[in-house]
Amino acid sequence: MEKLHGFRRVCLLGVMLLGTAIQGWGCGVRSPYFGEGSQLLTNHSYANDGEFLITHMDMRLAVNFVDKTIEGWIEYSLMHAYLRDNRKPGSVPPYHVNPITGNHVLLLDHRDMDILGVYAGGSLDKKTGVLKKGAKGLLYGAGVGDGDTLLYGKPLEIEVPRSQSKIVIHYKTRPSAGALQWLSPAQTYDQTHPFLFSQSQSILARTWIPLQDKPSVRFTYSAQVRVVCGATSVGAAGVRTGAADCIGVSDLVDAPIKPTDFNVVMSAVKLGNPEGDIVTDNKVHRFEQKKPIPSYLMAIAVGSFGYQSLGKNTGVYAEHKLLPKAAWEFADLQKMVDAAGEMFGEYAWGDYNVLVLPPSFPFGGMENPVVTFATPTIIAGDRSLVSLLAHELAHSWSGNLVTNRTWDDFWLNEGFTVYVESRIMEKLYGQNYADMLRVLGKGELDKTLGWMLKEAPEDSHLRLNLGKRDPDEGLTDIAYEKGRFFLMMLEQLYGRTAFDQFLNGHFTKYAFGTVTTDLFLADLKAFHEQQVGASAMESTATSAQGSVVGHTSSPLPAWRDFEPRVLAWIDGPGLPGVQAVGGFPKLESQEFSRVEQQVAKFLLSGEPLHPGSSVPCNASVIDTSGFTTHHWLHMLRQLHTRSDGLPGRLSREEMAGLDARFHFTQTQNAEIACDWFVLSIQSDYRPAYQAMHDFLLRVGRRKFLMPIYEALLAQHVVIDGKYVPAFAQGKEMATEIFLQAEPGYHSVAARSLRELLALALTGGSGR
Ligand code: BES
Ligand code: ZN
Repeated sequence: MEKLHGFRRVCLLGVMLLGTAIQGWGCGVRSPYFGEGSQLLTNHSYANDGEFLITHMDMRLAVNFVDKTIEGWIEYSLMHAYLRDNRKPGSVPPYHVNPITGNHVLLLDHRDMDILGVYAGGSLDKKTGVLKKGAKGLLYGAGVGDGDTLLYGKPLEIEVPRSQSKIVIHYKTRPSAGALQWLSPAQTYDQTHPFLFSQSQSILARTWIPLQDKPSVRFTYSAQVRVVCGATSVGAAGVRTGAADCIGVSDLVDAPIKPTDFNVVMSAVKLGNPEGDIVTDNKVHRFEQKKPIPSYLMAIAVGSFGYQSLGKNTGVYAEHKLLPKAAWEFADLQKMVDAAGEMFGEYAWGDYNVLVLPPSFPFGGMENPVVTFATPTIIAGDRSLVSLLAHELAHSWSGNLVTNRTWDDFWLNEGFTVYVESRIMEKLYGQNYADMLRVLGKGELDKTLGWMLKEAPEDSHLRLNLGKRDPDEGLTDIAYEKGRFFLMMLEQLYGRTAFDQFLNGHFTKYAFGTVTTDLFLADLKAFHEQQVGASAMESTATSAQGSVVGHTSSPLPAWRDFEPRVLAWIDGPGLPGVQAVGGFPKLESQEFSRVEQQVAKFLLSGEPLHPGSSVPCNASVIDTSGFTTHHWLHMLRQLHTRSDGLPGRLSREEMAGLDARFHFTQTQNAEIACDWFVLSIQSDYRPAYQAMHDFLLRVGRRKFLMPIYEALLAQHVVIDGKYVPAFAQGKEMATEIFLQAEPGYHSVAARSLRELLALALTGGSGR
């Protein structure tokens, strides 16, 4: 510590005295470290993982709801790259060395946090969690990087003496930490306790843990977590007496909130029952993740929630009053895990649990190993939205076991996952059900392509080229739906049995490793050629018997003919046509044909809204018997199109008719509500606005927020029976609602909305 402070002071003084002309050299003899040289961002990270690899983190975390901070002491196990690569030390010059001390420099990602000290390994007393007397401080400092600091933070530069393979970092997050959301009791279901959750994907792990924040680096971890109360800083052991109420308002509540009220989960196996430790009225939650995982799967949640088992290795965590509903909704979870295991190989992570978060969770789900985090908006009361669980579960293979090496390869995570998800759904609920989900997915994809092909056609390639753009910009229907349909095309080409062998081979070959689009293509080529060979042999054999039985009706093309078709998906815009080999796969839903007939009936019952004539379409002609959530969604999505085939909007009268019959404004199903609110805004149907407003204040799931706010920005109002643009008015309303709702949104959602509404991005968290 001392040493470092001295060093930094001298350095700063040097710069000040020498003036700007030679600033680059002010501390140049000791540079380029400690803020003098600019580190290069590669794949959204400053980590020099070619020189060092984190292999394990042993963490002590103190979660403080009053300060809204996590204070951490982490011992990192490092592997020097020469060991990994079987090189002799010094045989390849490391790139980052302090020429004065000769020490290697480790670069980690960090943002929104204060580093309180860095020490040589072994400095932490593992029993008490406190720093040993005489612990050796290491030199460190926040460097300068060539990327946007608000987004990527700064490289944390640490001098690691050559003999060291372990270091300890002591740090504290700031309340603005982008990954973390600190919720007040009012923002939870039970309304009794505060709640904390993290969302690390894609590059927010660095806002609560200093680490190598790129998906190509994997490590194991162990953790001890405690909840501490009171506003003052605590040591690693969390030693304190006379703990106040955990949210600092003990005199205002009857029953003070105590550390023992809280449960903790992490993306790791929880050891035993939470046990008490030496500190009175406190308890330690212990975790172990023995399988190596990438940084974006680091996760923590702390709140007052219970647990219910759902089968031999499945269970659900939810706030106490929500737990029975959640357990009912997720009744099929064990079946899903078993079905997925049968198709794609053994489940690798021990238990599969789902934690239901408060509604501000910015995503539908997040596949944190051992415990998926999920939005409560999937609890519809009829089990109709559980495909989201199948999706997050599917990531146990595609993503968590086999990980995209860079965010440019994101489709390898999400496209594979949507494909596997739909196979799980098909196995459990049948083909008709899975087909509805596929058609809904195609509808979303078409909508995305509608604007993307005009505005950013290159973003519609499966393989992305993000450069320094926020990796979250790759989170579009391209990775998910175009990716899924590409794999579905391959399935239809090779036949399901053969394609399953390919997939299983993929999951086995890259287990606990990473994959790139190029590796995938090389494997596909090998597989394709093998299939061509096999089908040639098979057809010789079968034709000798007088019949030809192939994988599919048409013979497989040679790879050289097929490859361009594959590359059109991977590196080309939009979607291929349906006819050709390698084209868009066959896709239809019998259930939805029925919905389409009903929509046609409705639209034909009236006249399109145009000057002079407006006989409203009549909601009573629609036969909705047997409709499920998916039928309703399909119906609402068809209503964008008028009977004349043109996209149009329903009149306010027609909306009122639909609402009177089907009570959409009051629906408790968030998926249906979202579509209805968008339609309501497009139609200037004001009776839905209050419910829409309440929804935006309560729910923080970005997938719902974006289309509603976007619709407000494109607002039209009815004047003299005609729809006229009222964009300024819409923007004003959107901005007003947003500013009211923002304190309740997670930084990820707030950031996207600030961009949409052209508001300044503020603060270290990007909020
Ligand atoms: N891993 C994603 C969520 C994610 C992706 C977060 C990229 C941050 C950056 C998760 O598996 C996911 O896809 N969630 C979807 C679920 C849906 C496709 C069923 C969501 O949140 O909507
Ligand atoms: Zn996903």
